[in-house]
Amino acid sequence: MKTRFLIAALALLAGIPAMTIGVTSGVVAADKPVVIADATGTVGGIKVPSANHPITTDVPAEATHREITDDQKRVRNYADQPPLIPHAIRDYQIDLNINKCLTCHDRRNTAGSQAPMLSVTHFQDRDGQTLGTVAARRYFCTQCHVPQTDAQPIVPNSFQDFDSVLGHAQGGQK
Ligand code: HEC
Ligand code: HEC
Repeated sequence: MKTRFLIAALALLAGIPAMTIGVTSGVVAADKPVVIADATGTVGGIKVPSANHPITTDVPAEATHREITDDQKRVRNYADQPPLIPHAIRDYQIDLNINKCLTCHDRRNTAGSQAPMLSVTHFQDRDGQTLGTVAARRYFCTQCHVPQTDAQPIVPNSFQDFDSVLGHAQGGQK
């Protein structure tokens, strides 16, 4: 019994220097000033917007953008673009038990809702078979259909629609 205690005590003592070294080296590392960005807020020439915002500063949150829910159809940029959702979809549940979208857009429900029916492609499985109900691969509507907000795009976009590309090719107007 005594020898066991002795061994345990020795093991503990042996551990202390290792722990001390660990702690000390941690302190040394933390003491070194960590240069994140220079006075101009850049690191290696790249602008770091957070450089002058220590985590203790309260930065006011950006205003959230308003959803566009005017019920107006948006023009599609190409023929098989999933049309954008022109109405609110907040809290619309889509899971194993219920698909809120289908309560209006399914073939059976459009008389009551006056919503446009899903097109036939939504009833076709991957082999092109038209099924009686919505195909599994079209069940999660918001995988493809999205609402819009009044936010401005962060990245500029030079997308041109098919007609204007054709116009270019023929030397016509944009
Ligand atoms: C309460 C009924 C209702 C529900 C629920 C509903 N919609 Fe709609 N949806 C409509 C109606 C009505 C329109 C026609 C435009 C309008 O009135 O907003 C429409 C329009 C659309 C359009 C535009 C179609 C086009 O040709 O431009 C899309 C896409 C759409 N809905 C997708 C969805 C999705 C996805 C969901 C679920 C997240 C959903 N809707 C839930 C009623 C509904
Ligand atoms: C895999 C992508 C995808 C999914 C998932 C999907 N859609 Fe679509 N949807 C499309 C595309 C692409 C179009 C336009 C071409 C077409 O009709 O196939 C479309 C068209 C529509 C239209 C317009 C139909 C018309 O004739 O004007 C409605 C309404 C619609 N979808 C609703 C829904 C609803 C509701 C769901 C969920 C049950 C859903 N979609 C799931 C891609 C998708």
